[in-house]
Amino acid sequence: MEYRKLGNTGTLISELCLGTMTFGGQTSESDARKIMDRFVEEGGMFFDTANVYTGGKSEEILGNWLHDHDRDDFVVATKVRFQSGNSKNSVGLGRKHILKSVEESMRRLRTDYIDLLQIHAWDPLTPLEETLEALNALVEKGLVRYIGASNLRAWQFEKALGVSKDRGLESFVSIQPQYNLLSRSTENEIIPMAIHENIAVLPWSPLKSGVLSGKYSKDMKAPPEGTRLGDSYKSGARFSWEMNNNDYTWKVVNELTKVARKVGKTNSQVALNWLLSRKGVTSPILGVRTMEQLMDNLGCLGWKLSGEDMKELNEASRLYVTYPYDLWSENQQRRQRLEDLDEMD
Ligand SMILES: NC(=O)c1ccc[n+]([C@@H]2O[C@H](COP(=O)([O-])OP(=O)(O)OC[C@H]3O[C@@H](n4cnc5c(N)ncnc54)[C@H](OP(=O)(O)O)[C@@H]3O)[C@@H](O)[C@H]2O)c1
Repeated sequence: MEYRKLGNTGTLISELCLGTMTFGGQTSESDARKIMDRFVEEGGMFFDTANVYTGGKSEEILGNWLHDHDRDDFVVATKVRFQSGNSKNSVGLGRKHILKSVEESMRRLRTDYIDLLQIHAWDPLTPLEETLEALNALVEKGLVRYIGASNLRAWQFEKALGVSKDRGLESFVSIQPQYNLLSRSTENEIIPMAIHENIAVLPWSPLKSGVLSGKYSKDMKAPPEGTRLGDSYKSGARFSWEMNNNDYTWKVVNELTKVARKVGKTNSQVALNWLLSRKGVTSPILGVRTMEQLMDNLGCLGWKLSGEDMKELNEASRLYVTYPYDLWSENQQRRQRLEDLDEMD
């Protein structure tokens, strides 16, 4: 495992983060503890959770485990934004909910500080200034070390950086977007923005909820039971399967399988290795239900896809390019401008 800077901060994180969204749901506490132990044995020290995962059980399981270890050895990220209780104000990014949610997260995590507090999504009802001031107060009180954001559009993130700078408040140091071989629209705005601002990129759903592992195929009438997509399909939430069951998905998965066979790795290892090699990516967040999946996924480390294999995967997953991304690249524009200047001499 290698370690990378959390954006422009002096704090290091492991190049893989362990997501805990399944803990207390599909993954029991005793299995989750073994998974965390193993992740740490392999050098992992960065964990991601949220106030709402499995109704708070995810934070509790992580907290119980942290309590048996040296808290300071780990970087713990959680989130606030979605409905975390029954009252009208147990949701959103207003001061009241942020403070209450952080108090509850710290109780469940059995810790007196959170390393990275992320807003889980944009809140159109709360002034950005109120949110950033509440987050800033938490940092000043020593309850939170850094702040970050998830699922924002690049303009929203940039606007927040501007407000923080104008008011002398803490700034976001990380962004957590969905990013994987099947979600490359993140490369249009989020990734260039993050590189430009030196912001850590923490991709969620690196295997597109398991689709990139190759266990689903076009000819399946429904996803098999005992999998995330199969279970949600059975419970009536068919959209996760329907959203993924299209020609683009199967084209990418077929190419991935081809490359995986060629290099002697599993689909998941290749998909994660591709992501780790992408510009701007800091630490993809692994999601696992079982120890076998963790061990499979950790096999993405310690080797590199060749330029030719990367090219084939990029080609298969390339998105239709729309305006303004179809205009010249920044480099071409710079070259043209230099030529224009030469002509003026
Ligand atoms: N910020 C956000 O809005 C947001 C949203 C989602 C997730 N997250 C974070 O990102 C983390 C990862 O997200 P994710 O769970 O969606 O990641 P993912 O890697 O896209 O999907 C993980 C799921 O895929 C299956 N899987 C994983 N490895 C496998 C393997 N080697 N072979 C076969 N199947 C495999 C498992 O599901 P089954 O075995 O059940 O099929 C597992 O639960 C979460 O824990 C959470 O911390 C954040």
